[in-house]
Amino acid sequence: MPPSQNWKEIIPADEEARFAELAKQLVELQRMHAVDGRPARALHTKFNGGFEARLEIFGDLPEPCRHGLFAVPRVYDALVRYSNGSGVVQDDAKADVRGMAVKVLEVDGPKAIGTARTQDFLGILQSTTPFRDAYEFVGVIWASRNPWLSLPRLLFTVGLRAFSILPKLIRAVKVPVDSLAESRFFSSLPMLCGPYAVRFAWLPLTAPAADGPPAGSTKYADDLADRLRKGPIEYALELQFFVDEGSTPIEDGSVDWPVDIAPYVRVGKLVIPQQDAVSERGKRIAEVVQSLSFDPWHALVEHRPLGNMMRARKQAYFACGKGRNAAAEPDGNMAWLK
Ligand code: HEM
Repeated sequence: MPPSQNWKEIIPADEEARFAELAKQLVELQRMHAVDGRPARALHTKFNGGFEARLEIFGDLPEPCRHGLFAVPRVYDALVRYSNGSGVVQDDAKADVRGMAVKVLEVDGPKAIGTARTQDFLGILQSTTPFRDAYEFVGVIWASRNPWLSLPRLLFTVGLRAFSILPKLIRAVKVPVDSLAESRFFSSLPMLCGPYAVRFAWLPLTAPAADGPPAGSTKYADDLADRLRKGPIEYALELQFFVDEGSTPIEDGSVDWPVDIAPYVRVGKLVIPQQDAVSERGKRIAEVVQSLSFDPWHALVEHRPLGNMMRARKQAYFACGKGRNAAAEPDGNMAWLK
């Protein structure tokens, strides 16, 4: 039986105005965290590596997958940025979200915003979030800007939900992770795949062995760079399809989609080839990757982000990209590297 197309977004009339307020708060945080007066990313500020990559889309995919980027088999150039989630740069030993953002280049087709030929995939280590919606998400980030005041502030913004969100959040970010090369990354939130709603995940396939257990304040960046000096790191790209609003909701970001009723389907493979992060070329790639903006709305219309938290990200990433003078979305190939 094909997956359901009966997914639905519920969009209140005042949503855009409320999202504008959230974007303003994030830009304010970006200003607060500016180093030497230069604003960086509002979140995911710590850079754990920026690499060139290739995304291969497989042939003979099941029909529901064959939309947008997955419509035909092809190999695309891509760029990858690994990050820590906090808005401040801190020791990797600190509990935090970890991110992997992939920008696929030279993608043809109508875009959800703009016209640049890219498709971005932003993932974190958690398959779901403790937040039902963007108001809870930004509420927690905003409240925690001063740790001593965070609980009273949080109670003020999200009320008693704070007692459900905080333990889940702490549990999620405290899971010990040795290497991002061996970790699974999830979109956690849905997007379109043609007429269907899906979530995606990157499943680690192969990576050269590490020299030893990663250690030190920049262990994630060091580990990725060490492994890539020896050989490629590979992940499978997988999609999970919407089943029904009860088990795989679109608007509620706090409900995980169970894999027993929504199994993952493999649609492609990301290869980050062997490369030297400290070579001239490696440094140039890192510099370009840092200057770009990765945004789930840099998407084909056929992969438009879905649900409250995803819709809020449209204004948030745009405002924060502007706030830090991010480079224009790349339209062409990686000729600048050759
Ligand atoms: C649970 C789903 C989410 C995932 C998987 C996710 C993932 C990411 C990742 C990987 C980055 C780093 C991008 C880069 O390397 O440039 C990022 C940045 C960011 N995220 Fe999210 N995020 C999520 C939800 C949200 C929400 C709901 C908001 C706000 C409404 C938000 C606001 C931001 C902002 C402001 C940045 C920095 C953007 C910039 O300055 O360019 N994120 N996110």
